[in-house]
Amino acid sequence: MSRGKPIGRLFLVFAMFALFMAGCEKPMSNVLDPQGKTGKEQLHLINLSVYIMILVCVVVFAIFFYVLLRFRRKPGDNSIPKQVEGSLTLEILWIVIPVILLVILAIPTVAVTFSQAKAAPKQQSDDFIRVKAIGHQFWWEFQYPDHNIRTAQELHIPVGKKVYVEVTSDDVVHAFWVPGLAGKVDASPGRINRVPIDAEKPGVYKGRCAELCGASHALMNFQVVAEKSSDFDKWVKKRQSPNSDPQTAEQKDGKKVFAQNCMSCHAIDGTQLKMRGNKAPNLTGFSSRNKIAGLLDNNEKNLDRWLHNPEEVKPGTYMPGFSHLDKKDMTSLKAYLQSLE
Ligand code: CUA
Repeated sequence: MSRGKPIGRLFLVFAMFALFMAGCEKPMSNVLDPQGKTGKEQLHLINLSVYIMILVCVVVFAIFFYVLLRFRRKPGDNSIPKQVEGSLTLEILWIVIPVILLVILAIPTVAVTFSQAKAAPKQQSDDFIRVKAIGHQFWWEFQYPDHNIRTAQELHIPVGKKVYVEVTSDDVVHAFWVPGLAGKVDASPGRINRVPIDAEKPGVYKGRCAELCGASHALMNFQVVAEKSSDFDKWVKKRQSPNSDPQTAEQKDGKKVFAQNCMSCHAIDGTQLKMRGNKAPNLTGFSSRNKIAGLLDNNEKNLDRWLHNPEEVKPGTYMPGFSHLDKKDMTSLKAYLQSLE
């Protein structure tokens, strides 16, 4: 038997696993190809531990096969080999070597963990932005305390800037995860966990809930939209003073339907009529979002599906169905929502 074979197989298994994992998502959502500083620092730690594991495997297997061959029973030799009971040198060696390896792993891990968990500087600055990410069953709320914006399902960030994310939850434990940008962070009620994110290039990065939190855990998706600073500023301006007033008669009717049915939970900023519900996603600029409920492509057919039977789309959601609305009300409600830019 050759010494390299099992290691070769181990590599093959690792390689296939990596290939499989890489194939799961588009490149923008690949843990092994992070698109920001935080993800890269974390990947370095993963690589360091993998290299140490490979080194340990190579050394252990080499010794194993050497012993197997060197001390195997030879034909005609029936003598009992020398009996060894404990070896102080060996005992010390196999305590000291793992301790050294653990220290090599621990120093950068602890340093990176603490530096990434740092809170944002108190003084507001152009170099970074602050965001609060709040998990709810089964959607994400994003607040920008410095910009006075509340939104849901879509986290807009400027490319190249550090984004200090404070992660928490409103109900059960969730976990905030944008595989292409940074590792998972628990979202626990009553607690704030921190992770800085940054994106090197514009694009849409997939976000996931990474902690089993109920029937629609697997559907608790969100998106990080990284855009050029100028585009981000435009988005901020639009969000700070949105024009949410309906234009057509149909949209005006729709606004009334919304006020009667939806505003106890949902908010729309920029309306004269105060729609300030905060139990459900803030719907300001709804039509410019890529997804409905963070999940369905944003088009009329899917909006219809979601409004009629949300339970079918997201089991366990607190959003009630509105199939009881008559056809005219439903049509005008959709027209109003689709007018919100
Ligand atoms: Cu929220 Cu899983």
